[in-house]
Amino acid sequence: MKSFASRIIRWQQRHGRHALPWQSTRDPYRIWLSEVMLQQTQVATVIPYFERFVARFPDLAALAAAHEDDVLALWSGLGYYSRARNLHAAARTIAECHDGMFPAAADAIAQLPGVGRSTAAAIAALAFGQRGAILDGNVKRVLARHGGIAGWPGDKSVETALWRLAESHLPRNAIEAYTQGMMDLGALACTRSRPACPACPVNTDCIAFTQHRTAELPTPRPKKALPEKQVLMLLLLDRGELMLEKRPARGIWGGLWSLPELTVDADAAAHCRDRLGFTPLAQQALPQFSHSFTHFKLHILPIQMQLAPRQITLPGQIWLAPADALSAALPTPVRKLVAQLDLA
Ligand code: ADE
Repeated sequence: MKSFASRIIRWQQRHGRHALPWQSTRDPYRIWLSEVMLQQTQVATVIPYFERFVARFPDLAALAAAHEDDVLALWSGLGYYSRARNLHAAARTIAECHDGMFPAAADAIAQLPGVGRSTAAAIAALAFGQRGAILDGNVKRVLARHGGIAGWPGDKSVETALWRLAESHLPRNAIEAYTQGMMDLGALACTRSRPACPACPVNTDCIAFTQHRTAELPTPRPKKALPEKQVLMLLLLDRGELMLEKRPARGIWGGLWSLPELTVDADAAAHCRDRLGFTPLAQQALPQFSHSFTHFKLHILPIQMQLAPRQITLPGQIWLAPADALSAALPTPVRKLVAQLDLA
């Protein structure tokens, strides 16, 4: 039987993806950007964000010179905003410490903020042809099934076993096609549910397939209930403009423009008057909805409030017409609320 790697490479050439916007280049900047966007987001969602980002910031120098707000605005809706902040910080590091040249060695790439071992190896392989193993979520699934590795891949011991397996399969040549092939196989054939095993190039020696265990491998994360939180969000309107506040740089939605938040037992009108210094004229509760983070689920209770014309704008606040607010760096649930604002 041909080696694992040569079967993956041949499959990638025939059935893998070849027309993604970051595949027509060896520009490490574009490959890095795509890999960071793809860390927690599906290809179909990433494509338009990637295109807009490179149109606005075509190279490292342009990104390094950008204002963080503009970088975050282009990220708005993709989620996991620390990725955008890290990308921006890394561009500045490269400008200062690497003479503006993207580092070519996987070890050096892995030093950049927001780039782990797997992402660094993928960039080094796809941009510079360097031989190294990757282990993202898709590849973990392929290897756990093929090698019959049980246990949740988030556990250190399981992850270590998977890295060892990933290293052991590496081809001597064609690392680009192999790397892309592992990602493509995981995304297109070796899917979490209903994998297309008959179409898989490594099915004959796949432990999960031959032992009918694809449904139980990889072992899922041990279940624990997500904590739930509730929050009031104020949509303060004055003469058709909405008030947004800049969030602190650290923490959830760091640096994004968001809405004032209150605990659910707070008196919204009193808070608005006594803490924010506005005069509420009318208020209306909007439909509740929820937003899931990795670590908790947030129930949002929006309240729309019409204000008497304000006298001042405090630092850290901006007032924007809702249509203009949609171009700012907003958290996803805030974007939904603004998009639904009915000012009629
Ligand atoms: N997911 C992570 N990296 C990817 C890539 N280069 N192509 C497709 N999907 C990916």
